[in-house]
Amino acid sequence: MSRFENKVALITGSSQGIGAACALRLAKDGCDIVLNGHKFDERGEKLIAEINEMGRKAAFVVADLSQANDAIRMVEEAVNQFGRLDILVNNAGVEKNADFWEVTEEDYDLVMNTNLKGVFFGIQSFVKYCRKNSVEGVVINMSSVHEEIVFPHFAAYCASKGGLKMLTRNLATELAPFNIRVNNVAPGAVSTPINQDLLNNKEELERVISNIPLRRMGRVEDVAGVVAFLASDDAAYVTGSTYFVDGGLTYHYEEQ
Ligand code: NAI
Ligand code: BGC
Repeated sequence: MSRFENKVALITGSSQGIGAACALRLAKDGCDIVLNGHKFDERGEKLIAEINEMGRKAAFVVADLSQANDAIRMVEEAVNQFGRLDILVNNAGVEKNADFWEVTEEDYDLVMNTNLKGVFFGIQSFVKYCRKNSVEGVVINMSSVHEEIVFPHFAAYCASKGGLKMLTRNLATELAPFNIRVNNVAPGAVSTPINQDLLNNKEELERVISNIPLRRMGRVEDVAGVVAFLASDDAAYVTGSTYFVDGGLTYHYEEQ
């Protein structure tokens, strides 16, 4: 029997980056997959084909998760795809680089609405489904090391991930009576399109890596492996936690 026999997972923002890796890893471990993104394009088509080749079902639900109503609809449509939903991975996220005194209301809203509000109402929709159908659901939120440590020039991003930290702690307690588990995964610096500017800047990249004890950028597979663990029954007694996947970055300290 595979790890996720008869289970269905919805992974938000999964056309690329960490979300796509999570989709492939969960499918490899036996899960049927509902993908999500702003739009369905060739990346989604390719992922569906790859997942089908593994013998698993896959579908794509288009939704803009900066809109609460779209997050709610996405969960309802995901349930309708394969008749059930067991795992929700809230991965979609955005960041905007700006000096604090230059941040516009528009950028603030985009970051907070995508990274926190959409997640909040997506989970709410999933919890309503779980309670109605007696499903012991699993929620995994893609947070960041910046739920804990500072990131100057990314104030709204830090506020959103810090909010996600407390949302997870709160929901873990409130939803435990229904055996719904809620955890965060907090990646460090991972090679994905969100970090394209950094990856293109050799000097800055070396500086970032020199501050990571394991001396390399994270790979999307590093994150996906921890997501698969948290989604599985191996983590049946884990709720309200944050798992750092950061090569030691967060608690790094050395005397110079
Ligand atoms: P990415 O930019 O490659 O992927 C983000 C995905 O979210 C994209 O597919 C994007 O289209 C989607 N998305 C953004 N806004 C959306 C919306 N309103 N509706 C639907 N989809 C939307 O970046 P990456 O690195 O894969 O990021 C995934 C998550 O991991 C994010 O939440 C990010 O904050 C988090 N993270 C990433 C780290 C990194 O170093 N790459 C480190 C720590 C956290
Ligand atoms: C950000 C990345 C950054 C990483 C480590 C993530 O939350 O999205 O841009 O490289 O944290 O600082």
